[in-house]
Amino acid sequence: MQAAFTTALLRWFAQYGRELPWRGISDPYGIWVSEIILQQTRIEQGRDYWLRFMERFPTVEALAAASEDEVLLQWQGLGYYSRARNMHAAARQIVEQGGFPRSIEGLRALKGVGDYTAAAVGSMAFGLPAAAVDGNVYRVLARHYGIDVPINTARGKHTFEALAQELLPAQESGTFNQAMMDFGATWCTPRSPRCIYCPVADTCDALRTGRVDQLPVKEKKLKVRERRFSYIYVRYKGTTALRRRPAGDIWQGLWEPLLVENGPLPDLGCPLTLLASGVKHVLTHRVLFVDFYLAEPELRPSLPDEYQWINERGLDDYAVPRLLQKLFDLISAR
Ligand code: ADE
Repeated sequence: MQAAFTTALLRWFAQYGRELPWRGISDPYGIWVSEIILQQTRIEQGRDYWLRFMERFPTVEALAAASEDEVLLQWQGLGYYSRARNMHAAARQIVEQGGFPRSIEGLRALKGVGDYTAAAVGSMAFGLPAAAVDGNVYRVLARHYGIDVPINTARGKHTFEALAQELLPAQESGTFNQAMMDFGATWCTPRSPRCIYCPVADTCDALRTGRVDQLPVKEKKLKVRERRFSYIYVRYKGTTALRRRPAGDIWQGLWEPLLVENGPLPDLGCPLTLLASGVKHVLTHRVLFVDFYLAEPELRPSLPDEYQWINERGLDDYAVPRLLQKLFDLISAR
């Protein structure tokens, strides 16, 4: 039996669903383009881009035949250009395969298509029974079912996807997915939701327990921390010193030259030549500011035990972080 929640949402959608130019079409290409655009773009802006994009590239064949420059030009102003590049590559994949994949796994294999987009396109274009869970859906479900599992964790993703899948009416998956998105975007909004007019208010756990403004829960991510590194490339008679990065820190297992973090620079018995200073390198939870030095001592300096002296000509055999490849490039360009 269909859940009362599902029935109520479908009824709500029939009356209040938004009119969007890609609604009611069954062309998987047009639906896919809309979903990629809407990943990081507001619906008002996305609408105009979609219309222009579809006019310029009306079919997946037209998109595949275009040059990357033409595609990027159409995308100009939307930002996150990897979306356009991935979409262009995926269009070529689709044409090579002889058409749009008609399964979730097939859609998921396209460049730039994740779980959400595969479910959205699969349900709307082909009626596949897959729940598309975006930020709106998380919010609606967290509130209505009073779920405080953080939405930005693996457990949260699993919990909400399973619930959305349970509520999904197999025969109307595309409609239900869009109903949830629209309901979250226009009714059950992050701030000032329209609880008074809500069609499922009488069964809403958050409303009953006064937690509407506390749900959904998001786990606080580590603050991005700044670190200051000085790397010294020590050159002694055609050799240089490297060590393997220790466990429990960034770049575990990769190699690096002599590193000083925060502390004073060591005395290596020769002057240090500054090659680059304050180079900014952004990682997921870290921002590094890095100075690069070259030291060319006459006598082999003694370094901490973990450093090994290796032949400079064999440097390519050691995997280093991208940042350090820059240092090595500076050295070899001298
Ligand atoms: N956001 C992303 N895709 C959407 C859709 N098809 N309808 C409403 N909002 C959306």
